[in-house]
Amino acid sequence: MTTFTSLKTRLPWIQAPLIANTPMSGVATGELATVVTRAGGLSQIGYLDDMHTLSKELDSTTKELKDIISILPDPDQLPIGLGVIVFGSPIDAWMRLFATYKPAVAGLSFAGTSEMRTWAEGIRKLSPKTDIWVQLGSVQAAVDVAQASGASIVSLIPETADALQKLEIEISLIAAGEIMDGRATAAALTLGASGAVMGTRFLGAVESHIPQICRDAVFSASDGGQSTARSRVFDEIWGPNF
Ligand SMILES: Cc1cc2nc3c(=O)[nH]c(=O)nc-3n(C[C@H](O)[C@H](O)[C@H](O)COP(=O)(O)O)c2cc1C
Repeated sequence: MTTFTSLKTRLPWIQAPLIANTPMSGVATGELATVVTRAGGLSQIGYLDDMHTLSKELDSTTKELKDIISILPDPDQLPIGLGVIVFGSPIDAWMRLFATYKPAVAGLSFAGTSEMRTWAEGIRKLSPKTDIWVQLGSVQAAVDVAQASGASIVSLIPETADALQKLEIEISLIAAGEIMDGRATAAALTLGASGAVMGTRFLGAVESHIPQICRDAVFSASDGGQSTARSRVFDEIWGPNF
Protein backbone atom coordinates (compact mmCIF):
# COMPACT_ATOMS: atom_id res chain seq x y z
CA MET A 1 0.00 0.00 0.00
CA THR A 2 1.29 3.48 -0.75
CA THR A 3 1.80 6.01 1.99
CA PHE A 4 1.48 9.75 2.44
CA THR A 5 5.02 10.14 1.06
CA SER A 6 4.06 8.75 -2.32
CA LEU A 7 0.90 10.89 -2.39
CA LYS A 8 3.09 13.91 -1.65
CA THR A 9 5.27 13.06 -4.63
CA ARG A 10 2.20 13.31 -6.85
CA LEU A 11 0.58 16.25 -5.01
CA PRO A 12 3.57 18.29 -3.78
CA TRP A 13 1.61 21.06 -2.01
CA ILE A 14 -0.22 18.73 0.41
CA GLN A 15 0.51 18.48 4.12
CA ALA A 16 0.15 15.44 6.37
CA PRO A 17 -2.32 14.02 7.01
CA LEU A 18 -3.98 14.47 3.63
CA ILE A 19 -7.39 16.06 4.08
CA ALA A 20 -9.57 16.36 1.00
CA ASN A 21 -13.07 17.62 0.39
CA THR A 22 -15.47 15.60 -1.69
CA PRO A 23 -16.72 16.95 -5.02
CA MET A 24 -20.05 18.26 -3.77
CA SER A 25 -22.05 19.43 -6.78
CA GLY A 26 -22.77 23.13 -6.59
CA VAL A 27 -21.34 23.31 -3.05
CA ALA A 28 -17.62 22.66 -3.55
CA THR A 29 -16.63 25.37 -6.03
CA GLY A 30 -13.44 27.27 -6.76
CA GLU A 31 -13.87 29.34 -3.62
CA LEU A 32 -13.54 26.28 -1.40
CA ALA A 33 -10.82 24.81 -3.63
CA THR A 34 -8.66 27.91 -3.23
CA VAL A 35 -8.66 27.84 0.57
CA VAL A 36 -8.31 24.05 0.82
CA THR A 37 -5.31 24.00 -1.53
CA ARG A 38 -3.73 26.93 0.31
CA ALA A 39 -4.19 25.01 3.58
CA GLY A 40 -2.31 22.00 2.16
CA GLY A 41 -5.35 19.86 1.33
CA LEU A 42 -6.84 18.45 -1.85
CA SER A 43 -10.07 20.06 -2.93
CA GLN A 44 -12.34 18.44 -5.46
CA ILE A 45 -14.57 20.82 -7.34
CA GLY A 46 -17.93 19.22 -8.06
CA TYR A 47 -20.24 19.52 -11.00
CA LEU A 48 -21.90 22.91 -11.47
CA ASP A 49 -25.02 23.96 -13.38
CA ASP A 50 -23.44 23.51 -16.80
CA MET A 51 -20.07 22.97 -18.43
CA HIS A 52 -19.71 26.66 -19.21
CA THR A 53 -20.10 27.62 -15.55
CA LEU A 54 -17.70 24.86 -14.56
CA SER A 55 -15.10 26.09 -17.09
CA LYS A 56 -15.42 29.63 -15.77
CA GLU A 57 -14.95 28.33 -12.23
CA LEU A 58 -11.84 26.40 -13.27
CA ASP A 59 -10.46 29.49 -15.02
CA SER A 60 -10.89 31.64 -11.94
CA THR A 61 -9.43 28.92 -9.68
CA THR A 62 -6.39 28.72 -11.96
CA LYS A 63 -5.95 32.49 -11.59
CA GLU A 64 -6.47 32.42 -7.82
CA LEU A 65 -3.86 29.69 -7.36
CA LYS A 66 -1.31 31.20 -9.76
CA ASP A 67 1.32 31.69 -7.05
CA ILE A 68 1.10 28.06 -5.90
CA ILE A 69 1.05 26.73 -9.49
CA SER A 70 4.20 28.73 -10.26
CA ILE A 71 6.21 26.91 -7.59
CA LEU A 72 4.99 23.41 -8.43
CA PRO A 73 7.47 21.12 -10.19
CA ASP A 74 4.91 20.71 -12.97
CA PRO A 75 3.42 24.09 -13.96
CA ASP A 76 0.78 22.32 -16.06
CA GLN A 77 -0.73 20.71 -12.98
CA LEU A 78 -3.81 22.43 -11.56
CA PRO A 79 -3.52 21.73 -7.80
CA ILE A 80 -7.10 20.64 -7.31
CA GLY A 81 -9.32 17.66 -8.06
CA LEU A 82 -12.24 17.69 -10.46
CA GLY A 83 -15.08 15.41 -9.42
CA VAL A 84 -17.53 13.72 -11.74
CA ILE A 85 -20.68 11.76 -11.06
CA VAL A 86 -19.93 9.35 -13.88
CA PHE A 87 -23.36 7.94 -14.56
CA GLY A 88 -25.43 10.20 -16.74
CA SER A 89 -22.55 12.60 -17.43
CA PRO A 90 -21.58 13.53 -21.01
CA ILE A 91 -18.14 11.97 -21.37
CA ASP A 92 -16.92 14.02 -24.36
CA ALA A 93 -17.59 17.35 -22.68
CA TRP A 94 -15.86 16.18 -19.50
CA MET A 95 -12.86 14.87 -21.43
CA ARG A 96 -12.41 18.33 -22.96
CA LEU A 97 -12.30 19.77 -19.45
CA PHE A 98 -9.69 17.25 -18.27
CA ALA A 99 -7.59 17.92 -21.38
CA THR A 100 -7.80 21.70 -20.92
CA TYR A 101 -7.33 22.09 -17.17
CA LYS A 102 -5.27 19.00 -16.27
CA PRO A 103 -6.39 18.79 -12.64
CA ALA A 104 -4.08 16.90 -10.30
CA VAL A 105 -6.90 14.48 -9.46
CA ALA A 106 -9.96 13.19 -11.27
CA GLY A 107 -12.52 12.06 -8.69
CA LEU A 108 -14.84 9.50 -10.25
CA SER A 109 -17.92 8.32 -8.44
CA PHE A 110 -21.14 6.42 -8.89
CA ALA A 111 -20.68 4.02 -11.81
CA GLY A 112 -19.89 0.40 -12.55
CA THR A 113 -16.41 -0.97 -13.24
CA SER A 114 -16.50 -0.87 -17.02
CA GLU A 115 -17.75 2.72 -17.12
CA MET A 116 -15.06 3.72 -14.60
CA ARG A 117 -12.48 2.05 -16.81
CA THR A 118 -13.65 3.93 -19.92
CA TRP A 119 -13.44 7.26 -18.09
CA ALA A 120 -10.07 6.45 -16.47
CA GLU A 121 -8.56 5.44 -19.81
CA GLY A 122 -9.90 8.57 -21.50
CA ILE A 123 -8.50 10.87 -18.81
CA ARG A 124 -5.13 9.09 -18.80
CA LYS A 125 -4.81 9.61 -22.54
CA LEU A 126 -5.62 13.33 -22.42
CA SER A 127 -4.00 14.25 -19.11
CA PRO A 128 -1.50 11.50 -18.21
CA LYS A 129 -0.37 13.12 -14.97
CA THR A 130 -3.87 13.35 -13.51
CA ASP A 131 -4.33 10.84 -10.68
CA ILE A 132 -7.58 8.90 -10.82
CA TRP A 133 -9.45 8.59 -7.54
CA VAL A 134 -12.42 6.27 -7.57
CA GLN A 135 -15.03 6.47 -4.84
CA LEU A 136 -16.24 2.98 -3.97
CA GLY A 137 -18.42 1.37 -1.39
CA SER A 138 -17.46 -2.30 -1.32
CA VAL A 139 -14.34 -4.42 -1.18
CA GLN A 140 -15.33 -6.30 -4.33
CA ALA A 141 -15.86 -3.05 -6.22
CA ALA A 142 -12.44 -1.87 -5.05
CA VAL A 143 -10.74 -5.05 -6.22
CA ASP A 144 -12.61 -4.97 -9.55
CA VAL A 145 -11.63 -1.38 -10.26
CA ALA A 146 -8.03 -1.89 -9.16
CA GLN A 147 -7.67 -4.84 -11.50
CA ALA A 148 -9.49 -3.14 -14.32
CA SER A 149 -7.80 0.25 -14.39
CA GLY A 150 -5.19 0.61 -11.67
CA ALA A 151 -7.14 3.59 -10.36
CA SER A 152 -6.98 4.72 -6.76
CA ILE A 153 -9.82 3.68 -4.51
CA VAL A 154 -11.56 4.88 -1.47
CA SER A 155 -13.21 3.37 1.60
CA LEU A 156 -13.53 0.09 3.47
CA ILE A 157 -9.94 0.46 4.41
CA PRO A 158 -8.57 -2.59 6.24
CA GLU A 159 -10.34 -5.28 4.27
CA THR A 160 -9.69 -3.52 1.01
CA ALA A 161 -6.03 -3.01 1.95
CA ASP A 162 -5.69 -6.73 2.74
CA ALA A 163 -7.43 -7.74 -0.47
CA LEU A 164 -5.20 -5.50 -2.55
CA GLN A 165 -2.07 -6.62 -0.72
CA LYS A 166 -2.89 -10.23 -1.57
CA LEU A 167 -3.17 -9.20 -5.21
CA GLU A 168 0.12 -7.26 -4.91
CA ILE A 169 -1.55 -4.09 -6.17
CA GLU A 170 0.02 -0.89 -4.85
CA ILE A 171 -2.59 1.78 -4.44
CA SER A 172 -3.48 4.66 -2.10
CA LEU A 173 -6.56 4.19 0.05
CA ILE A 174 -8.23 7.38 1.19
CA ALA A 175 -11.07 6.99 3.64
CA ALA A 176 -14.44 8.70 3.16
CA GLY A 177 -17.71 8.64 5.02
CA GLU A 178 -18.60 10.10 8.40
CA ILE A 179 -15.15 11.51 9.06
CA MET A 180 -15.73 14.79 10.87
CA ASP A 181 -12.72 15.58 13.04
CA GLY A 182 -9.18 14.75 14.09
CA ARG A 183 -10.25 11.63 16.01
CA ALA A 184 -11.93 10.07 13.00
CA THR A 185 -9.04 11.08 10.75
CA ALA A 186 -6.57 9.44 13.16
CA ALA A 187 -8.76 6.32 13.19
CA ALA A 188 -8.80 6.20 9.39
CA LEU A 189 -5.02 6.50 9.27
CA THR A 190 -4.69 3.75 11.89
CA LEU A 191 -6.87 1.51 9.75
CA GLY A 192 -4.44 1.95 6.88
CA ALA A 193 -5.71 4.96 4.95
CA SER A 194 -3.26 7.49 3.54
CA GLY A 195 -5.66 10.38 4.06
CA ALA A 196 -9.25 11.38 4.67
CA VAL A 197 -11.93 12.79 2.38
CA MET A 198 -14.78 14.72 3.95
CA GLY A 199 -18.03 16.00 2.56
CA THR A 200 -20.44 17.01 5.28
CA ARG A 201 -17.69 18.54 7.44
CA PHE A 202 -16.87 21.02 4.71
CA LEU A 203 -20.45 22.30 4.69
CA GLY A 204 -19.30 24.27 7.72
CA ALA A 205 -16.82 26.23 5.62
CA VAL A 206 -18.07 29.67 4.65
CA GLU A 207 -16.50 29.04 1.24
CA SER A 208 -18.93 26.13 0.60
CA HIS A 209 -21.91 27.30 -1.41
CA ILE A 210 -24.86 26.21 0.69
CA PRO A 211 -27.70 28.23 2.17
CA GLN A 212 -27.05 29.03 5.83
CA ILE A 213 -30.37 27.42 6.78
CA CYS A 214 -29.18 24.07 5.36
CA ARG A 215 -25.79 24.44 7.06
CA ASP A 216 -27.50 25.12 10.38
CA ALA A 217 -29.83 22.13 9.93
CA VAL A 218 -26.92 19.77 9.25
CA PHE A 219 -24.83 20.97 12.15
CA SER A 220 -27.65 21.11 14.67
CA ALA A 221 -28.56 17.47 13.95
CA SER A 222 -27.54 14.85 16.49
CA ASP A 223 -27.73 11.08 16.82
CA GLY A 224 -27.19 10.56 13.10
CA GLY A 225 -28.40 6.96 13.13
CA GLN A 226 -31.84 8.23 14.12
CA SER A 227 -31.96 11.59 12.38
CA THR A 228 -30.58 10.59 8.96
CA ALA A 229 -33.15 9.91 6.22
CA ARG A 230 -32.06 7.63 3.40
CA SER A 231 -33.44 8.47 -0.02
CA ARG A 232 -32.76 8.02 -3.72
CA VAL A 233 -34.10 11.46 -4.57
CA PHE A 234 -30.86 12.77 -6.10
CA ASP A 235 -30.43 9.60 -8.18
CA GLU A 236 -33.97 9.94 -9.43
CA ILE A 237 -33.48 13.59 -10.35
CA TRP A 238 -30.11 12.94 -11.98
CA GLY A 239 -31.09 10.06 -14.24
CA PRO A 240 -30.18 6.39 -14.46
CA ASN A 241 -30.26 4.54 -11.20
CA PHE A 242 -28.28 1.64 -9.72
C1 LIG B 1 -23.81 18.27 0.19
C2 LIG B 1 -23.15 17.06 -0.44
C3 LIG B 1 -23.05 16.99 -1.81
C4 LIG B 1 -22.43 15.90 -2.41
N1 LIG B 1 -22.30 15.86 -3.77
C5 LIG B 1 -21.55 14.89 -4.33
C6 LIG B 1 -21.28 14.91 -5.73
O1 LIG B 1 -21.70 15.81 -6.43
N2 LIG B 1 -20.51 13.92 -6.25
C7 LIG B 1 -20.02 12.92 -5.46
O2 LIG B 1 -19.31 12.06 -5.97
N3 LIG B 1 -20.28 12.86 -4.15
C8 LIG B 1 -21.00 13.82 -3.56
N4 LIG B 1 -21.25 13.77 -2.21
C9 LIG B 1 -20.88 12.58 -1.42
C10 LIG B 1 -19.44 12.59 -1.02
O3 LIG B 1 -18.65 12.32 -2.17
C11 LIG B 1 -19.07 11.54 0.03
O4 LIG B 1 -19.47 10.28 -0.37
C12 LIG B 1 -19.64 11.77 1.39
O5 LIG B 1 -19.97 13.10 1.59
C13 LIG B 1 -18.63 11.35 2.45
O6 LIG B 1 -19.22 11.30 3.71
P1 LIG B 1 -19.29 12.55 4.73
O7 LIG B 1 -20.23 13.54 4.14
O8 LIG B 1 -19.80 11.91 5.97
O9 LIG B 1 -17.91 13.11 4.88
C14 LIG B 1 -21.89 14.85 -1.59
C15 LIG B 1 -21.99 14.95 -0.20
C16 LIG B 1 -22.60 16.04 0.38
C17 LIG B 1 -22.66 16.11 1.88
